[in-house]
Amino acid sequence: HQHLFDLSGWSQDQFITLFKMADLMDELKNSGCQLMLGRVIYNLFFQPSTRTRTSYEYAMKQLGGQVINEVDPLRHSAVTRGESLKDTLRVVSEFANLIVLRHGNENEVLEAVELLGSRVSPIISGGFGHCYHPTQALADIYTVWRFINKPFKDIVVLLTSPDLSRGYRSGHAFAIGMAKLGARIVYTGSAEHMIPSNVRETLIDLGAKFEEFTDLSRIENLELLSRSDLVYLPITSLATDDVERELFLKRIQQHFISLADLESIKKSTGKVIGAMHPLPRNKNQFDYAIDNTEFELYFKTVKLSVPLRMALIAAVVGIPLSIRSQYS
Ligand code: CP
Repeated sequence: HQHLFDLSGWSQDQFITLFKMADLMDELKNSGCQLMLGRVIYNLFFQPSTRTRTSYEYAMKQLGGQVINEVDPLRHSAVTRGESLKDTLRVVSEFANLIVLRHGNENEVLEAVELLGSRVSPIISGGFGHCYHPTQALADIYTVWRFINKPFKDIVVLLTSPDLSRGYRSGHAFAIGMAKLGARIVYTGSAEHMIPSNVRETLIDLGAKFEEFTDLSRIENLELLSRSDLVYLPITSLATDDVERELFLKRIQQHFISLADLESIKKSTGKVIGAMHPLPRNKNQFDYAIDNTEFELYFKTVKLSVPLRMALIAAVVGIPLSIRSQYS
């Protein structure tokens, strides 16, 4: 079964084939394409989303397919009457060729999928667990492929945040995907909230070029930045506790990267460092002045997520035989 949860098993060829397909899909946008005519995506989102859910909907509609949205199953679905995730997935599989799933509990998803075997439609993770947000990562990597004029193996990625342990799945998914393509991965964070052990183990198993730094000063973090090609800007912590949130806001100073920092590095080294972020963001963690400059990549990613997701949908659902035969 062709589920897509993470990128650790992907070959370099798979990435590049998908990106070439996404380039073709970009040209199909607004063309009245009917590639997915009669096919249905079920967006099953147990947690809120703007980009992922709506870009899948937009991408499917661009391919002539249909979309069912369940955006608040904890209030509106039979989950309120105790229906298990396993049963929910089995039922909605009857109505859909592909399920896009966002969920709060990684173990629950993996267990349900294991138990269902072939009785569930293909699932693409729309975000769950510590590192399973593969299509945000693919949209990020596709953006790098389109805009950064350097082979992946020569790229250095800096991931910097006071909290790399919670709500950081987009960053970890990106790191794993870029590591598969040979990039060097550098994390810098706070000792108490470093990367989850399963992410570290995955990177080690992949033989990734990978380093972790803890509790560096702002100057030391800027030194790491100047040696990077891309930076994944800090992501808001999911800390619910007031004391921890206070600590995050204090520590963000060490990790905050301003437009002035990027401009100063460009002045001294000539290097334009690409600024990435999965969004949403807030002004405590992010210098909005980076928008609309040559450093900004995050809104480019939003735009490119559409052809990228069109390509993925076609790859996972499969192009109808009647259409495939016209090309063979
Ligand atoms: N980047 C991302 O996953 O955004 P949403 O939560 O809005 O889908």
